[in-house]
Amino acid sequence: MAKVTQTSSRKADHIRINLTEDVRSGLTTGLERYRFVHQAVPELNLDEINLCSTLFGKTINAPILISSMTGGTDQAERINLTLAEAAQRTRIAMGLGSQRVAIEHPELAPSFQVRRVAPDILLFANLGAIQLNYGYGISECLKAVEMIEADALILHCNSLQEAVQPEGNTRFAGLLGKIEAVCKALPVPVIAKEVGWGFSERATSLLAEAGVTAIDVAGAGGTSWSQVEMHRAENESQKRLAAAFIDWGIPTADSILNVRKAAPELLVFASGGLRTGTDIAKCIALGAALGGMAGPFLKAASRSVEATIQTIGEVKHEIQVCMFATGAKDLEALKSTELLIQSSTH
Ligand SMILES: Cc1cc2nc3c(=O)[nH]c(=O)nc-3n(C[C@H](O)[C@H](O)[C@H](O)COP(=O)(O)O)c2cc1C
Repeated sequence: MAKVTQTSSRKADHIRINLTEDVRSGLTTGLERYRFVHQAVPELNLDEINLCSTLFGKTINAPILISSMTGGTDQAERINLTLAEAAQRTRIAMGLGSQRVAIEHPELAPSFQVRRVAPDILLFANLGAIQLNYGYGISECLKAVEMIEADALILHCNSLQEAVQPEGNTRFAGLLGKIEAVCKALPVPVIAKEVGWGFSERATSLLAEAGVTAIDVAGAGGTSWSQVEMHRAENESQKRLAAAFIDWGIPTADSILNVRKAAPELLVFASGGLRTGTDIAKCIALGAALGGMAGPFLKAASRSVEATIQTIGEVKHEIQVCMFATGAKDLEALKSTELLIQSSTH
């Protein structure tokens, strides 16, 4: 029970700190450097713009993902059910938080099981890739997928977060071969995801060789997990270590381009600091299939299903207006829309 209590209190800390403290990265997403070319004569009707796409066999009505966040406590279960109901009613995609706690304590599985309110959504399971170096294998990955009837498995790569956590798992050597074995054996696609520091070209190439189907960049510019850990630190020394990484990471825009360049065949999910529909539209123009947000949806879900649906609706509408004003009738057209790069002196 001690372990459940420890993990539960860490999860509760994460939610509390993300809701009440300033945990923003010192970096920006890099998206502010890009602008769309305005089209005064779009030759389109706003209400006919199509935001639908099909991913892993499921249709989503807007290119929006509720990024992986939580599970494992009563509060986390309420948040997951709120997010899932909103995702079902708007037909967007959703990821659950790391399911390790429920693999180790199956009685906690219901806090992740959202299919009862969201039977149709594109849904992602989640485990820390590092667990593959601490005894996990294909069977635990399969359990995570089956536990929530997921369409794909996200393996999050959070080396820096583990390194600034007093209780972190930091033995990352030899992980790629294990990721490769999981990609080969699992009946669903595997997505590699960061947690807010992005992917380099080198990391992308290694993961592509290991066989992942997609990369969720989770770049720098939004929630900073070193800042979250700084607020959890138990002493000044831990606090100073975490605080040193406020400006760390690869901004989301750069990370999308890294993945496109190093592995053009991979599907790219954009996330990390996306806060508006325009941010998501820019990511799609840079080559992403959709854009994910964590922090903003956590805040909405702490209020209600309706507040979450409203947030989703506003983001979706803004994407639609962006597409209208750039003359893109659907997401394929948005992908090939030109973006202007701002000079840094402006
Ligand atoms: C409360 C909270 C818990 C999170 N837990 C997980 C997790 O279990 N697994 C994971 O892959 N990412 C997790 N993340 C990271 C997010 O999925 C996302 O990559 C990161 O917060 C950056 O996105 P943002 O700037 O939109 O918040 C969590 C984020 C938050 C806010």
